Amino acid sequence: MRDDLKCNDITGPLLAWYDAHARVLPWRIAPQDRARGIIPDPYRVWLSEIMLQQTTVAAVKAYFERFTALWPTVADLAAAPDDAVMAEWAGLGYYARARNLLKCARVIVAEHGGAFPNSHATLLTLPGIGPYTASAVSAIAFDAPETVLDGNVERVMSRLFLVEIPLPTSKPELMALATRLTPTARAGDYAQAVMDLGATVCTPKSPACDICPLVHVCRAHRSGVAAQLPKKVPKKPKPVRLGHVYVTRTAAKEWVLEKRPEKGLLGGMLGWPTSEWNEAPSATPPYDAPWHHVGEVRHTFTHFHLILSVHVAPCVTAPEGTVLVPQAAFRPSDLPTLMRKAFDLAQATFDNREVGSAPT
Ligand code: ADE
Repeated sequence: MRDDLKCNDITGPLLAWYDAHARVLPWRIAPQDRARGIIPDPYRVWLSEIMLQQTTVAAVKAYFERFTALWPTVADLAAAPDDAVMAEWAGLGYYARARNLLKCARVIVAEHGGAFPNSHATLLTLPGIGPYTASAVSAIAFDAPETVLDGNVERVMSRLFLVEIPLPTSKPELMALATRLTPTARAGDYAQAVMDLGATVCTPKSPACDICPLVHVCRAHRSGVAAQLPKKVPKKPKPVRLGHVYVTRTAAKEWVLEKRPEKGLLGGMLGWPTSEWNEAPSATPPYDAPWHHVGEVRHTFTHFHLILSVHVAPCVTAPEGTVLVPQAAFRPSDLPTLMRKAFDLAQATFDNREVGSAPT
């Protein structure tokens, strides 16, 4: 029976576990500090939640530290140049998040006096904030009893309640179950406690049931099937797309890049010029140069795998419509990962053959 598992069976043991084992994260107020009345900065909570969408805690930490050092408040971020923010986001992926981040910061400053709204409904009106992020921000920053259902929480709920319907079909049921358990007191700590339990104890492959604070109420554990849940509808294999990418610089050692269109993949980011990406891309380079092929780079996007053939030319006259970045100002880390991979391959060639050195 699912209906006999109540909020109180879960909340007490889980919060006690969280008090002892909460992960130390740069955006988090420790439960002991929170109990002393220290409240989170909604700006830091929002920034972390946007970064954590589809991205691991491990990958986010360093980005979060850099962003908050550069832009300690939402007003600082709102006043930042677009290119600086996009460059700092480079490598984190899903670049629409960075464009919406800036839009949202500017709306907060222009329309909300620089303060994040605390209501779920108002948060939902802001760029880049969907139901999940609105719930996470209102729970964590404002202690509102909102239910936060990410992949970790889905796994915990599937196991606690022995939900055998596969994901994503089971999502509405998991949401209903998670909502029933959400407490009215310490809602922010509770939201983070379930996430931490999923991330550190109730892990996908080998859950550590022997140290789980909820083992006594876990239906999947009782049935011996915790490690087999949640079931998942098999994913369709991703198609492979092909393309060409062109890396070069001018005689003055300026790298020849372009700003990608705002809409579409890697939108608004700097990158090397490429062909279209499809099954049979044109091999005609974007401009004349003594191109030579140096190898392939591979990258996986949400809906496809991409293989780009990398072409390098020793030196070109600045073509129109490109962005020239002088060697001294060029930071490969400002490029999205795909473009960084192409640079790394090309760079080895430039170094080895010294084709990039300026003519005397
Ligand atoms: N994943 C998404 N939001 C998170 C948070 N606030 N803490 C840990 N992991 C998360």
